[in-house]
Amino acid sequence: MTTSVDAERTITVTVNGVPRQATVPVRRLLSDALRHDLGLTGTHVGCEHGVCGACTVLVDGAPVRSCLLLAVQVDGASVTTVEGLAREDQQGGQVLHPVQEAFRECHALQCGFCTPGFLVTIAAGLEARDADGPITDEEVEEIVGGNLCRCTGYANIKKAVHHADAAMRDAR
Ligand code: FES
Ligand code: FES
Repeated sequence: MTTSVDAERTITVTVNGVPRQATVPVRRLLSDALRHDLGLTGTHVGCEHGVCGACTVLVDGAPVRSCLLLAVQVDGASVTTVEGLAREDQQGGQVLHPVQEAFRECHALQCGFCTPGFLVTIAAGLEARDADGPITDEEVEEIVGGNLCRCTGYANIKKAVHHADAAMRDAR
């Protein structure tokens, strides 16, 4: 007999703009569903208890820690992972998100394990920003303060946020 904790449920989620369906155990974490059921391994799993931010994705545009959500909780929602940040250009190629471009320019990563979580968090933070002038150091701290990086010392990550902010303001 199937007990309630072993139950499965089919969910429909729009992931990076594409409707996807998966049948998942009701206890499956969103991070595991993305990686194992949907094959989107760009979302990394570090601490698995909400501390490091490596697993950050956007749910209906807001950054969330996918290791703290059950997959069934996002049934019907829209999820953006790091794979969804780049855009297609008119020739069908990929154009990096300004935050990805800034990380490349500023050498804002070393091992790269934390990088997907930073990229998604920073992209959402800059897109939500409503001030006109350049981003301040305090605002940068606020955006990146919840994500951990063991390699870089954060200086180049913060520099990349300033670069991405400038690029995104220029593009408006
Ligand atoms: S793996 Fe989710 S916050 Fe660390
Ligand atoms: S680049 Fe290695 S943990 Fe951040």
